[in-house]
Amino acid sequence: MNDHNRWVTITINKNQYQAMEGEIFLSAAMREGIEIPHLCFEEESWLHGDCRLCMVDVVTCGKTEMTTACTLRVYNGLEVLTDMPETIRYRNSRLELCRAESPEFFQRRTSGF
Ligand code: FES
Repeated sequence: MNDHNRWVTITINKNQYQAMEGEIFLSAAMREGIEIPHLCFEEESWLHGDCRLCMVDVVTCGKTEMTTACTLRVYNGLEVLTDMPETIRYRNSRLELCRAESPEFFQRRTSGF
């Protein structure tokens, strides 16, 4: 973030919050206590930027589109759903894939899942 950022209003799961324009959506959601699974965010790992466990749905004109919360930038009016059943199923399948690819990694990081 820089000096030009400003507070904007975003909607997460139908509730409104304030966030800094341009910040990473996952950070804003975590600050508000909204749990979104994530593995490669904040850490260097073999999965860096690719775990896809943080998938959420952005709502635009009544339609939803899945995207990664760790790459989504906040803008005024951003609306996100974090608990869509199809998205949760996708996250679970990604989790199993990641676990199968590196069981040792998951033994070290089992919290939050
Ligand atoms: S936390 Fe890994 S892709 Fe978002």
